[in-house]
Amino acid sequence: VHHRKLGVLSLVAAGVIMIGSAAVGQTVIRVNVSMPKNGHHGVAIDAFAEELERLTDDRYDVQTFYAGALGAERESIEGVQLGTLEVTFTSTGPVPNFVPELEVLDVPYLFRDYEHARGVLDSEIGEELLARFETAGIKGLAWADNGFRHMTNNIRPITSPDDLDGMKLRTMENPVHIAAYRELGILPTPMAFTEVFAALQQGVVDGQENPISVIESNNFQEVQKYMTLTGHVFSPCVFLMNLDLFDSLPAEDQVAFVEAAKVGAAANRARVDEDEANALDTMRAAGMEIIEDIERDAFIERLAESRQDFIDENGSEDLDRILNWQ
Ligand code: PAF
Repeated sequence: VHHRKLGVLSLVAAGVIMIGSAAVGQTVIRVNVSMPKNGHHGVAIDAFAEELERLTDDRYDVQTFYAGALGAERESIEGVQLGTLEVTFTSTGPVPNFVPELEVLDVPYLFRDYEHARGVLDSEIGEELLARFETAGIKGLAWADNGFRHMTNNIRPITSPDDLDGMKLRTMENPVHIAAYRELGILPTPMAFTEVFAALQQGVVDGQENPISVIESNNFQEVQKYMTLTGHVFSPCVFLMNLDLFDSLPAEDQVAFVEAAKVGAAANRARVDEDEANALDTMRAAGMEIIEDIERDAFIERLAESRQDFIDENGSEDLDRILNWQ
């Protein structure tokens, strides 16, 4: 009897706990970006949050943070790895510091255009690359876009690599970028993005390089005179989640996280397309000089050696698969 009573009591207790957690309702998922809310990263996490809550009948409460409020990209990836942050949406800039085998994605002049980049990332090549995050204790949920990167500066209009000689440009903390930019004659100055506007304003660096969406949504046209459409590297974005947390979820919730990330990626890409179509006008209106005609072949030739160094270190299998994708 005693045991039965205990059994009933513990069932009641379990019920209370279940009802209690259902009433409190939700598991909190924090997700952050380094970009402002009104931009191609902000819309990605907003769409992710809405879709995840919808798919799971609000069993998750997704809390969104913008403009580096919970840390810049490198710190955020570290947080996701350690489990002190549940989800982040980030460019792949700092990713090689966690998963060196993903360096290939940031090789200059690898992707021809948006169709190529999105096609590869959405193909089985993209799936395989996404799975590599697991070696770092991270679940890659979905790829998205940061965009093709272009150079801005306050010294002179750039049309050929010779114009870059000795120019101090802020770069991401990405080893592939840094090696390539050195070869272009740039003095690379790696810095977390959250410090870049002030560094440009105060002349700590002469310029920086980023996609149109980033430049416009952060008002760099206010502190930079020239922008050259170098398109020198495609910069992917990715939704990342703590792997232990992901693995601890029921299968249907795991599917919901992946699906919600894909919806976030679609919103992100739509915003990138919109920015690519409209933002140059905004920047011109703000007085920025935009240089579209460049000696593209000269840039590519100048980067041949760093491309070869990359192949010597990493082999050419991933690189060739991406280059040959049709
Ligand atoms: O330049 C960077 O660090 C990244 O492109 C940014 C702006 C944080 C967006 O991912």
